[in-house]
Amino acid sequence: MTKISIIGAGAVGATAAFCIAQKQLGDIVLVDIVESVKGKALDMFESMPHFGSDSKVTGTMDYKDIKDSDIVVITAGFPRNPGMTREDLLEKNSQIVKTVCKNIKKYAPNSIVIVVTNPLDVMCYVAFKETGFDKKRVFGMAGTLDSVRFRCFIADELGVSVSKVDALVLGGHGDSMVPVKRLTTVDGKPISNVMDEETLNKIIERTKNGGIEVINYLGSGSAYYAPGTSITEMVKAILNDEKRIIPASVYLEGEYGQNGIFLGVPVKLGRNGVEEIVELDLGSAKKLLDESAEITKKNTEKLK
Ligand code: LAC
Repeated sequence: MTKISIIGAGAVGATAAFCIAQKQLGDIVLVDIVESVKGKALDMFESMPHFGSDSKVTGTMDYKDIKDSDIVVITAGFPRNPGMTREDLLEKNSQIVKTVCKNIKKYAPNSIVIVVTNPLDVMCYVAFKETGFDKKRVFGMAGTLDSVRFRCFIADELGVSVSKVDALVLGGHGDSMVPVKRLTTVDGKPISNVMDEETLNKIIERTKNGGIEVINYLGSGSAYYAPGTSITEMVKAILNDEKRIIPASVYLEGEYGQNGIFLGVPVKLGRNGVEEIVELDLGSAKKLLDESAEITKKNTEKLK
């Protein structure tokens, strides 16, 4: 059976585990530093007959149990609270991600690693350096989340099904993210044909602040349903070898004119991880992507 380990059984990790298990994508090992992880996992496991899923879900405090995982998802770390930027988490979370990665290297050396901990693009860099894995096997989940938020807002505004809206949000997972107008379509039509500029710009701003909008309502902790399901989408694309184009934060070596940083760009995801970095014509959004890259570069430098 395919094995997916999720490090960190907070709201994001637990939601991802629940959705992945429902789809019976594999057996799930949920890892945390508190004993309650075992109860969470058991509760999930007991719900599986409702979904006709034979996925086993187990909870553990021992990294040994991630042995030979096909995929490891890192959600461990502190979430943002109101008034905090993702960058405020840099110091604390990089220590956590380092510890997690030492264990991944030891027990699951052939796994594909999906990083979710914030600040996302920098934590991907930490995981890449610490595991020493090939860049195809270490990448971050952010663009799927930002894109799904963008799609929701567009569909809602136009009163159409979300399934008719295609969109890609690229760049760093922060205020500098880049919803690419040129690649946004509704029922195959360019967004500029079906929505006025002012409304679209408002939706773009709302998308950029999508994370904080939820945080401010929650009061403590950050979003987890849309992040958890976005993780599930990536896990599914990998395990089913979909080779679908999905935005992900990946290590760039010349692509999109960037070098030595992780940044959200379109990639082909399949059983080997990032099978291709897809270079699309972004039009005027290329300049915004460059600006976003500069910010990620600065944050990565802070760490070094
Ligand atoms: C968000 C956090 C998870 O965007 O980064 O909701």
